Amino acid sequence: MCGIVGYIGSQPARDIVVNGLKRLEYRGYDSAGIAIYDTEPHVFKCKGRVRDLEELVLKAGVDGNIAIGHTRWATHGEPNEVNAHPQISYKSTFVVVHNGIIENYTRIKRHLEGRGVEFSSQTDTEVLANLIEHLYLEGDLTAEQAIMLALNKVEGTYGVVIMCSREPGKLFAARKGSPLVIGVGEGESFIASDATPIVEYTQRVIYLNDDDLAIIKADEMILKTIRNKPITPEVKEVDLKIGEIDKEGYPHFMLKEIFEQPRAIHDTFRGRVLPDHSGLRLGGLFNSFEAMSKADRILIVACGTSYHAALVGEYVIEEYCRIPVEVEYASEFRYRNPVIKKGDIVLAISQSGETADTLAAVRLAKEKGAMVLGICNVVGSSIPRETNAGVYTHAGPEIGVASTKAFTTQVLALVMMAFEIGFRKALIDQARYTSLIEELVALPGKIEKALTVNDAILELAKYYQSSENAIYLGRGYLFPVAMEGALKLKEISYIHAEGYPAAEMKHGPIALIDENMPVVVVATKENTYDKIVSNIQEVKARKGKVIAIVTEGDQVISKMADHVVEVPDTLPVFAPVITVIPLQLLSYHIAVLRGCDVDQPRNLAKSVTVE
Ligand code: AGP
Repeated sequence: MCGIVGYIGSQPARDIVVNGLKRLEYRGYDSAGIAIYDTEPHVFKCKGRVRDLEELVLKAGVDGNIAIGHTRWATHGEPNEVNAHPQISYKSTFVVVHNGIIENYTRIKRHLEGRGVEFSSQTDTEVLANLIEHLYLEGDLTAEQAIMLALNKVEGTYGVVIMCSREPGKLFAARKGSPLVIGVGEGESFIASDATPIVEYTQRVIYLNDDDLAIIKADEMILKTIRNKPITPEVKEVDLKIGEIDKEGYPHFMLKEIFEQPRAIHDTFRGRVLPDHSGLRLGGLFNSFEAMSKADRILIVACGTSYHAALVGEYVIEEYCRIPVEVEYASEFRYRNPVIKKGDIVLAISQSGETADTLAAVRLAKEKGAMVLGICNVVGSSIPRETNAGVYTHAGPEIGVASTKAFTTQVLALVMMAFEIGFRKALIDQARYTSLIEELVALPGKIEKALTVNDAILELAKYYQSSENAIYLGRGYLFPVAMEGALKLKEISYIHAEGYPAAEMKHGPIALIDENMPVVVVATKENTYDKIVSNIQEVKARKGKVIAIVTEGDQVISKMADHVVEVPDTLPVFAPVITVIPLQLLSYHIAVLRGCDVDQPRNLAKSVTVE
């Protein structure tokens, strides 16, 4: 996601836009830029945070009554000044800020290059800017006509605000798939990706809909579709306070991010699944699939929740690729002088891309000659910049300290990697590959369904909010889920919790079981189901309280457990992204009931950039 802010009116625009961008930095913060119109557009942009942009602009001393700004979360082109927005068209007539993905940008770029148009960035946004310019000049059109024509040619998503140097006194805003809100002031108008930067100036807003195009002047706005059909704007009152709006109505970022997981999973596979579901296209790994298919061993290094995703990676890569996998805490890997041989691949998993131990592990692995890959969520962060290749999870910025959508999207990235390698090694035939992908694309709907247990989980949380300990059990793909569920509980509710492979109970932990010990068992249908039934019987025989996460329609465990939470059926390989949902919700509700600071738990930081 990126953040867009625009202003047109009688006030100085610069500070309104810069301060608005600061409020949107949670949407992405790898580079930022602004265009200020006094007698012409002046564009300032830089890699880094909005505060770096502010310094640049204040030094230049430029201001005007019209400005558009952007804080980027890169999708096309690495985060740097050239790729930062605003993007300027090749004759500098149009200045564009954009949030979204122009999916047919390659074809349009080739078409324009064939007509002599030169490009300076790697972004899809510059393609849109140059397409508008090209149509404007070739067809001798007005800015509105050229913009409208261009938007009818692009495929994909956009929230876009455009300034035309030859038509001062107006801004153009259009939306398809990426939100844009217009604030209606007295003799002034505001535009932003959400209402956060607007509500301190006006409560009156117009939410653009897909295919809307707004031509905005200081004191008037014309709204139409991109097919030139007039629309009567619907002005709404925003009654949320600034602080809440960031959470879009959710009480905490963590809950918002738990509920964002259907979209996050969808965005992580969007553009990577071939239209006929016959395969995957993981562009970021393209030049390394050969090496991965021939790897003697894959070592996965990570911390915390990312380590738990890595454990799922071990199971899925060994099952589908038959490549030996070792998973290690990055903090241990980096100090024990590990043996790394030629032919080894090291894969680093990190939401932030800045975790010091994981970054150090990456550097050590490179020193020892391994090919190093990454799975990260923050584009342009240190780990992606230092690895040879990788996969970005498109979960969107994760603000809650407790990782939720990072885990599910990391698992999905690992599963997609494993499927593609397995297919390339002919371990998966085309028919099976297609059926696996069909189940993959059904995941957002199944996660939506899993989220419907939220109210039931709240009741469960009331029952266990005063527990002092908890044990989480799982087998196979569900063992890492048990570990992740335990981490969630302990890091935000401060209840001591441990995750174990269910069979491990007999080797010590079962001594902990009594009537005060809640035991969460992740026990959806998979090949060790009968074994976990026995483990539950062992716990029940010692009066332990069992909370079972089971496949909907389960007829065995649901008759044994004290509490049963049903989740949709799926293949074992996808079970982690479904079964973790109730565990995330359980930890969230218990923490809230205990009055803990869910989004900023004590002693923790979102990204541990120190050792
Ligand atoms: C998980 O909820 C925690 N926030 C923490 O364990 C986190 O997963 C860990 O610090 C690793 O962070 P990273 O994924 O950004 O590297």
